[in-house]
Amino acid sequence: MRAADIASDLKEVLVTEEQILAKLEELAARVTADYEGKELVLVGVLKGAVMVMADFSRVLPRDAPMDWMAVSSYGAGTKSSGVVQIRKDLDTDLTGKHVLIVEDIIDSGLTLSWLLENFASRGAASIEVLALLRKPEAAKVEVDVKYVGFDIPNEFVIGYGLDYAESYRNLRDVAILAPHIYA
Ligand code: PRP
Repeated sequence: MRAADIASDLKEVLVTEEQILAKLEELAARVTADYEGKELVLVGVLKGAVMVMADFSRVLPRDAPMDWMAVSSYGAGTKSSGVVQIRKDLDTDLTGKHVLIVEDIIDSGLTLSWLLENFASRGAASIEVLALLRKPEAAKVEVDVKYVGFDIPNEFVIGYGLDYAESYRNLRDVAILAPHIYA
């Protein structure tokens, strides 16, 4: 669905599907140049990264195997506690591989910071991050993200993989959710 299909649920459209696809092409060109001659593995973090992975991997003009991890925060009931549990681990061995973690959004940065630490012990030749969205004002920990699509304000955003109570992931655009939906 497009933002226009659910206009009353939205406060504002931040990034359209067209802008996302153009940005992914741009990032793919950079990644292609940076990883020339190197064995690249894309690692997606479920579930939010599904759309970015699908579109980014297909505009990449080279082969790049993909693998998936499912993680969940726990402890104190907060979403981004920084304490992360692996729900599904990778199927592949990262030893000697050049790993690109593909994320939909960096919010507090806690998930990513935990992932980077976890991956550091797996013997990868290099580990970098591609994130479609980043909220600079929400950062609780600084993480080095080499490929960023868009910096966005610290608002509740949904669409293009991002959910509110599992809804809206199939919205093609990224939008700020109208407060009456979650108030
Ligand atoms: C989202 C997103 C990142 C994380 C970012 O996942 O996909 O993994 O939150 O937040 P942080 O920077 O504050 O750690 P979420 O836990 O919502 O799971 P989902 O992808 O299954 O929706």
